[in-house]
Parts: sequence; C-alpha cells; structure tokens
Amino acid sequence: MKYLMQNIYNSAIQMAGEYLEFIAKPELTESEKNWVVNESIKGFTENVNPGFLQYRKSVSTDYTAIEWMDSGSTFTDIHGKVFIDCLGGYGVYNVGHRNSRVIEAVTNQMKRQALHSQELIDPLRAFLARLLAEITPGGLQYSFFTNSGTESVEGALKLARLHTKRFGIISTTGAFHGKSLGSLTATSKAVFREPFLPLVPGFRHVPYGNADALEVEIASAAYIGEDIAAVILEPIQGEGGIIIPPDDYFPKVRDICDHYGVLLIADEVQTGLGRTGYLFAMEHYGIDPDILCLAKPLGGGIMPIGAFISTEEIWQEMIPNPFIHTTTFGGNPLACAAAIASIHVTLDEDLAGQTAEKGAYFIPKLVELTDKYGDICLEARGRGLMIGIEFLSDEIGYEVARGLFENGILVAGTLINSKTIRIEPPLVISLAELDKVLEILGKVFSDVSKKSKA
Ligand SMILES: Cc1ncc(COP(=O)(O)O)c(C=O)c1O
Repeated sequence: MKYLMQNIYNSAIQMAGEYLEFIAKPELTESEKNWVVNESIKGFTENVNPGFLQYRKSVSTDYTAIEWMDSGSTFTDIHGKVFIDCLGGYGVYNVGHRNSRVIEAVTNQMKRQALHSQELIDPLRAFLARLLAEITPGGLQYSFFTNSGTESVEGALKLARLHTKRFGIISTTGAFHGKSLGSLTATSKAVFREPFLPLVPGFRHVPYGNADALEVEIASAAYIGEDIAAVILEPIQGEGGIIIPPDDYFPKVRDICDHYGVLLIADEVQTGLGRTGYLFAMEHYGIDPDILCLAKPLGGGIMPIGAFISTEEIWQEMIPNPFIHTTTFGGNPLACAAAIASIHVTLDEDLAGQTAEKGAYFIPKLVELTDKYGDICLEARGRGLMIGIEFLSDEIGYEVARGLFENGILVAGTLINSKTIRIEPPLVISLAELDKVLEILGKVFSDVSKKSKA
C-alpha cells in the first residue's frame, strides 16, 4: 500500500512539475500549445465538469478556445486570437486586465507578506477600510472584507438581522445576489433555487421597480408579526437582464424603509466602482443605503475581495463580539493591496466620469443599430458601461453571442439566458475599441437577421 501511494505521489510530483514549467514559460511552441489544450480538455472532462465544455463549445466556432493571456480590454487565447472583452468578467475588470498599478501594489506587498497571521493587527485591512469610509455614500463607516460577492451578501443579511432583531428579508423578482444558501434565498431564478428548497426561512420576493408592492409586503408582514429586517436591491439588475428601475423607485424605497424601520441593503457587487458612470450606482438616485455590498471590481481584476460596509449605529452589535462573523482569508494583505490600488486607479483616472462619457457615446449608437434591426432586437438599454441588448428570442440572442465570439468579441449571456446579452467591458476600453464593437455588432445583426428571415 505504502509502495503504491509512493508511486502515485511520484507521478503527481512529475505532473505538478510539468504544470509549473508551463506557468513559467513566456512563449509556447505549437506542440506545447496542443499539449495545454488537450490537458485542459481532459481536466475539464474528467475532473472539473464536462458540462462547461459543452456550454463553451457551443459558442466557440472554430475550436475550443483556451484563454491564456490578458491585458487592458482584451484577452488572448492560446492560439493567439485576440478578443475584445465585452463581458469584463461580469464587472470584475473595471480597471482593465492586469492593470500595471494594481500588479505593482500586489507585487510590493507580496515581497513582504502575503497572508495575515489571523491574530495581530494587519495594517492593510485598516487602510482599505479607511478608504472605503471616505468614498462610500452617506455615513457608511465600518467594513468587513470577504472573498466574493455571495459572502458580502451573506454578511449583510446577517448584520441586518443582528441589528434589527427581526428576521424578514425582502428581495425582488429578477434579482441575483449569489448562490450560497442565504444569498441564493434572496436570488430569484427558480432554476437555481428549486433544487435546494426549502431555503432560509423569512425571505419574500416582490416585483422589482414597484415601490407600492414593496410597501404592501412590508406592511402585511408587520401586521402578522413577522417584521422585516431588510430589503436587498441591486441599483440596476444585472443577471436579471440590465433592468433599470423608474427614477423615483429608490427614493420611494428609502422613505418606505425609514417609515417601517427596515434597513436598505444595496447590492453593488456588479454596479460598484464606476461601472454605471458614478462611483456607486446608488448615486444615480441620490439616496444612501444602510448596508453596501461590494466585490467583483474591488480587487482590481487581480485579487478576489469583497466587502459589506455599514454605519457605526448598525455595526454596534458586531463590536462586543467581533468573532460573530469571521473568514480566514477575507481582507488578506494581497487582496487589500489590490483593492487599495484599484480604488486609487478608479479615482485618479476618473474612471466613473470616463464611463459616463463612453456610455453616452456608445449607447445612442447602439440604440440606432438595434432600431435598424427591429426584426431581431427588442431594445438596447444601459447606464455607463452596464449595457444590455434584448432580442426577440433566446435563440436570436444566442446566435448573436456566437457571431460576436467568432468575430473576436466576448459578451455575457449565452446558453442559460441569451434573450438579453450584456455588454460590460473594462472601463478603460477605448473609443476606437467601442467603434469596433459597434461595427462588428452591425455585421453580426445583419447576418442573424438574414438567417432568421431565411
Ligand atoms: C449583484 C450581484 N450580487 C452578488 C453576486 C455574487 O457574486 P459572486 O459570484 O462573487 O459570489 C453577483 C454575481 O454575479 C452579482 O451580480
């Protein structure tokens, strides 16, 4: 048995060594590229999930695209084909792929210390929390750092229950807040929720954008003695298909929450840090949330990090018992270094302002294009560089996503929900690149329109 295990270990040592060699190689020969492709396909088939291969293959036209390099607004597959990244990691790459200032901060920190002791006071967590207190809306002051969006939402939900001593949570139809059990309960799509029912008790969903429906639900819950702790909302629904609520929705929600003593949680995991043309999308509506959730772009496209942030008053219950909610890796020094640099770049280069201008340039041209192809497109809409194109059917959206991929543009929304495809490029995308995206969209719309007529 011992001999057998040693053989397995020896083979694993050899495999790991080979993988490390590939990681270290600046250039690959053709046969090395083929090796990486075959090994990746084998790994996904046998050890990750072959479902992903089927999913990706259906949009990949000439071969299974294996990503290998990235920079700025583009990524390059292993065969050297360059793609304009109009998916932007669903909002991760706001400051671009491998932003040099973020890499520099992370490398500098790496030279000294990567992860924290878990016991002493780690300075970068304090620095980042101070920065967030400066830039976030209203009186938000205390931050808890996580490793992902779903964790930021989990923490926010727990904090709301802790502070209000109530257990009801209201979310909305079309909402996406993550897929761990608590955040999944707030998420709305049946396909993700149904296999795991019953989920966390106390959650209800009301239509997004309808303040009256929200008030009825809060009042009814209070009437039956099941008071609501918090309402959780995305300022613009992302996964739901770029749904922008009426202008007066959030001000009304704020008033309703204040009236009933309900906390307002803004889930800015996708909309945060410049994506919609403001640093935080809640600024569009001129109101402040009680708890703010961040993640995707916070780590500057280099490190995973999220946060939930709240006021001194709401944080009170956490202070006598700081261990009531913890995570080993959340707010580690490398992730905090990346987040500090990401905030620095975002503010220093006025990425939010740039995004507002780029959106004002791109969206009207896109609307013109979708109007021209009214036989396949329903509507184009968006704020800043959070943009959706809604098609007449899933099949048409899927054909468009496929055509774009063939022509070197990656967009979000393919197999699972392609009726609305999303355009969320890095905020550093150039106007020339946006023009190229419009040109290729025109060509693909024309092809798909001809095909659908035929
Ligand atoms: C608004 C929103 N909240 C939460 C999440 C979950 O984030 P994560 O995938 O990092 O868990 C997402 C992810 O798409 C999101 O868009």
